[in-house]
Amino acid sequence: MDMKIALVPGDGIGPEVVSQAVKVVDAVCGTFGHTAAYTEALVGACAIDACGDAYPEESHRICMESDAVLFGAVGDPKYDNDPTAKVRPEQGLLAIRKRLGLYANIRPVETFKSLAEKSPLKTELVDGADFVCIRELTGGMYFGEKGRRDNGNTAYDTNVYSRLEIERILKLAFEFAGRRRGHLTVVDKANVLETSRLWRQIAQEMEPSYPDIKVDYMYVDNASMQLIRYPKFFDVLVTENTFGDILTDEASCISGSMGLLASASIGMHTSLFEPIHGSYPQAAGKNIANPVATILSAAMMFEYGFGLMEEGKAIRTAVNESIARGIVTEDLADGGKAYSTSEVGDWIAGQI
Ligand code: IPM
Ligand code: MN
Repeated sequence: MDMKIALVPGDGIGPEVVSQAVKVVDAVCGTFGHTAAYTEALVGACAIDACGDAYPEESHRICMESDAVLFGAVGDPKYDNDPTAKVRPEQGLLAIRKRLGLYANIRPVETFKSLAEKSPLKTELVDGADFVCIRELTGGMYFGEKGRRDNGNTAYDTNVYSRLEIERILKLAFEFAGRRRGHLTVVDKANVLETSRLWRQIAQEMEPSYPDIKVDYMYVDNASMQLIRYPKFFDVLVTENTFGDILTDEASCISGSMGLLASASIGMHTSLFEPIHGSYPQAAGKNIANPVATILSAAMMFEYGFGLMEEGKAIRTAVNESIARGIVTEDLADGGKAYSTSEVGDWIAGQI
């Protein structure tokens, strides 16, 4: 297959980890007889620095013309403590999601046997946990009307969801559950929020069309507790944008490091693949960041973006092998030898 891939490294450690994923994609192409042509695009603080826009038109054109987008991270501390900044790197990520119509963010939480002890949770709770969070990505408070009134002294963000937005993400979640263990947990705050009541109503309307799926409903506060109390309860968890943002950070520490979790954002145009971690500015340029989340995002790109399951599996096998053999960056080294970002990338690519 000939693949056109947009590379969007972004800020902070983004470029370092994306380079490792590129090595791995090239290795897969070599082994399986595919070709990958890359075009780089700017999003985030680097785009603001270059042209004053966090998601320039040129970047959008490159993404639209590509078969997949491989994304690093956006964010820069120089904006974090300036609530008055007019343009922010994060706007680039939100704009790319909105304009590519990426309404579903799929974040699998897998555990690695050899890392179970790195988890802040007890090994017996973590060992065997395997679930997928499906986060709605283009609605809710992130995109609802927002602003200030009373001379700037009152602020509001509106949480809005339409039936169409809810139905399409729930449909995807039901189908996902059907391909897994058939258990779907719909997470909301229906005891308080009207948007949540509409989510729950629509989910209940859809239930009869999926007789093989066992559905349960859980309030988000309870879900945040159950995720760490008994993660093995979950198979597929679906929720709205803001809840999903928070719960997936929480879920990411179950595996032992945030540097391990990949994600796929799919929707109406080109799909996007990105690690769930941020730009980790303290580590930028130091060649110490864990590239595994981005490498596993490349595995998701083969699987979800191109339907090439064997290729994805080859990456997963190589990643598992690297972790089992201790070829890991400092976040996982635990007193043992810490390998650099590029050494881990080289090793995994070599293995393929
Ligand atoms: C994520 C990130 C983003 C979000 C930020 C960077 C805008 O935290 O992908 O989870 O809140 O969605
Ligand atoms: Mn987040």
